[in-house]
Amino acid sequence: MSLLAEIREKAAAKGKSIVLPEGLEERTLMSVKEIADQKIANPILLGGESEIKALASKIGADISGAEIVDPAKAAYFDDFVQAFYEMRKSKGVDLDKAKETMLNPLYFASMMVKMGKADGEVAGAENTTGNVLRPALQIIKTAPGISAVSGAFIMIVPNTEYGADGIFVFADCAVTPVPTAEQMADFAKASVATATDICGINDPKIGMLSFSTKGSANHDTVEKVVTATNLAKEKFPELKVDGEFQVDAAIVPSVGSSKAPGSAVAGQCNILIFPDLQSGNIGYKLVQRLAKAEAIGPILQGMDKPVNDLSRGCSVEDVVNVVAMTALRA
Ligand code: ACO
Repeated sequence: MSLLAEIREKAAAKGKSIVLPEGLEERTLMSVKEIADQKIANPILLGGESEIKALASKIGADISGAEIVDPAKAAYFDDFVQAFYEMRKSKGVDLDKAKETMLNPLYFASMMVKMGKADGEVAGAENTTGNVLRPALQIIKTAPGISAVSGAFIMIVPNTEYGADGIFVFADCAVTPVPTAEQMADFAKASVATATDICGINDPKIGMLSFSTKGSANHDTVEKVVTATNLAKEKFPELKVDGEFQVDAAIVPSVGSSKAPGSAVAGQCNILIFPDLQSGNIGYKLVQRLAKAEAIGPILQGMDKPVNDLSRGCSVEDVVNVVAMTALRA
């Protein structure tokens, strides 16, 4: 069974509710039938009921398996306004601003997850990554002990002996432009949950990436990765993590043993933590295009409750898969 088929099957066993705030987005509406028929999740569409039904009928989408919630008419709208006001008044938000904000479906959806009206959220088919993330960061916030959210890609690389039979987790490829050393250490911890819960990797080994291996070069940016590695070891002693590694020292056994002798993970890493968003984003796209790897993600990690961002170029199948991954994390 493929990894995605496994993810869908495991998600179906959980029976979670996932809110889809882009209720007037066509691929989102088309995804509802498969999500509901395969019981991947109970989908909740946000928006005006008559507009959503009219669009569904126009494009031939069967949305009978979805609940529709119109934020403005929801019985708990005023409670959400009050809760948002309490959360954000120190940031200058007054009650009028809170009401206006809760009418924005992306904010309303994050509040539904925060308040337990949904188990997770998926959006981004028509909104930018930043616009999906900002409400989630403000309302749901990070999990206890995690200082920053990151975006991981599961990379399924064909015809390779590296990683966990060709499967890797790469992070951060989507969220934090210039992470601190502490944030990189947190990305390592959060990536282990993605590797074990979603990819089924049972021996996660983390490489903290740089252009230097174990002191082969000196630079402030290398020093950050050294500090991040030490912090990850101190803060999360249960992790199998080491660095700083060049990527070949992290994944190729012969290079790992020659450049980092004595390391417990060099040459065997299946989780790669990049030093910044530029290298992470470029890195996953290079592997995707040149090695013809399947890139699944970004999977947001480190959030207190699961939220995931779609690509604006997503297909209906992508929406279904991201809903499945979100339900699995819920
Ligand atoms: N982790 C946790 N919290 C965060 C993070 C983070 N990485 N970044 C910001 N926050 C919090 C802030 O502390 C702040 O909280 P507060 O308002 O309660 O104090 C809140 O989120 C908003 O922060 P801002 O700094 O005002 O938000 P900003 O406008 O900088 O947006 C964002 C943050 C959305 C993550 C931004 O950094 C961003 O757009 N990142 C890049 C996303 C992107 O374009 N990725 C590439 C495309 S995806 C792809 O190719 C797959």
